[in-house]
Amino acid sequence: MSEQTIGIIVNGATGRMGYRQHLVRSLLAIQEQGGVQLSDGTRRQIELILVGRNQVTLDELAARHGIEHTSTDLDAVLADPRWDIYADFLVTKARATALRKAIAAGKTIYTEKPTAESFEEALELARLAAEAGVKNGVVHDKLYLPGLRKLKRLIDSGFFGRILSVRGEFGYWVFEGDWQPAQRPSWNYRAEDGGGIVVDMFPHWSYVLENLFGRVESVYAKATTHIPERFDERGEAYAATADDAAYGVFELEGGVIAQLNSSWTVRVDRDELVQFQVDGTHGSAVAGLFGCKVQPRNVTPKPVWNPDLADDHDYAGDWQDVPTNDVFENGFKTQWEEFLRHVVEDGPYEYDLLAGARGVLLAELGLESSRTGRRLDLPEVTLGSPGDTAGADEELASLEASVAR
Ligand SMILES: NC(=O)c1ccc[n+]([C@@H]2O[C@H](COP(=O)([O-])OP(=O)(O)OC[C@H]3O[C@@H](n4cnc5c(N)ncnc54)[C@H](O)[C@@H]3O)[C@@H](O)[C@H]2O)c1
Repeated sequence: MSEQTIGIIVNGATGRMGYRQHLVRSLLAIQEQGGVQLSDGTRRQIELILVGRNQVTLDELAARHGIEHTSTDLDAVLADPRWDIYADFLVTKARATALRKAIAAGKTIYTEKPTAESFEEALELARLAAEAGVKNGVVHDKLYLPGLRKLKRLIDSGFFGRILSVRGEFGYWVFEGDWQPAQRPSWNYRAEDGGGIVVDMFPHWSYVLENLFGRVESVYAKATTHIPERFDERGEAYAATADDAAYGVFELEGGVIAQLNSSWTVRVDRDELVQFQVDGTHGSAVAGLFGCKVQPRNVTPKPVWNPDLADDHDYAGDWQDVPTNDVFENGFKTQWEEFLRHVVEDGPYEYDLLAGARGVLLAELGLESSRTGRRLDLPEVTLGSPGDTAGADEELASLEASVAR
């Protein structure tokens, strides 16, 4: 790595996430502020090269943002020692191949989730990176949301007493694409192109649950495709082969039960597009993207069930907002800065390809649970774990044998 700058290969900057969250709101914002601030107060500047398949699009993007370097030749860029970090924001399907190449070239890895399409491949990537001794990071953006940071602070302060349960609602209506254009890329709704809400959201639930409440020990999920036909970017009809809603129950270390609904086929009747209610013996909280409100046990009302009487109690009024005592920047940027400090100063960093593999495993077992109707245990994942979905396969084999008898 140059003493002066950190060279970052940005692959997939034309995409929704690559452009808005990573290029504009994170990397260009870090550049604009003079680089990432290190622990001694000095700053290290970053330099970017945009990589993609279409030179014209790359040139247009580079010109718009004053970026000097672009290339359509990933291999050549990976072979160039001036670039230290390979950052991947491609469609999920294209990711593992690119990550393998980047690891083989000795680059530091930073990637969107899911890290691969199968657990076996995700674990292999984590192993390859460990063997090659390259540092690696996986986007854990939800942990940096102001609402979840407030929730974490409540947990750390002991506010909840013993946490009993978590119920989460994520989702909104994604238009089918005919009478109004869809607001998400069509590949998300085709299983053959790496789409599906389980594959998309369960990796998020994996790191949110394990970092806030405890390791995920089992999953039961029902995934479904409520809308079987959608219309793509060209207005053409296609079969929506991927799940667009998933209803999951997760048992966590320590006995906490989490129940999370994920849906692109729900109309919003909540304060925010994602919301988690956490109930504990000493208090409850409801956290969203930005907000978080609490109800301690000593102000908990005492509802009495009486269907014969209209209940005019203002339940929403029983909650109190958690104040915003910190300055919260864009979460993607904050995570980028932490990762860059890890790269430059060697500080500890937990959100790595192994954590990414745990997320892919949760998605894989969630889909398996949905197919079989069974609750499945999650094995602890280490770099030495078997690549198949471990205990789940054995459990299934023994179930199949007993059904056959
Ligand atoms: N962290 C989050 O909250 C979050 C949210 C949405 C998506 N994602 C993840 O980010 C990734 C990108 O999603 P998106 O919504 O930005 O998708 P997108 O379709 O908008 O962008 C995908 C990018 O990949 C490129 N691409 C497409 N096919 C390719 C191929 N075959 N080879 C090489 N490049 C190819 C496109 O040119 C584009 O730059 C996905 O893995 C998705 O799961 C993360």
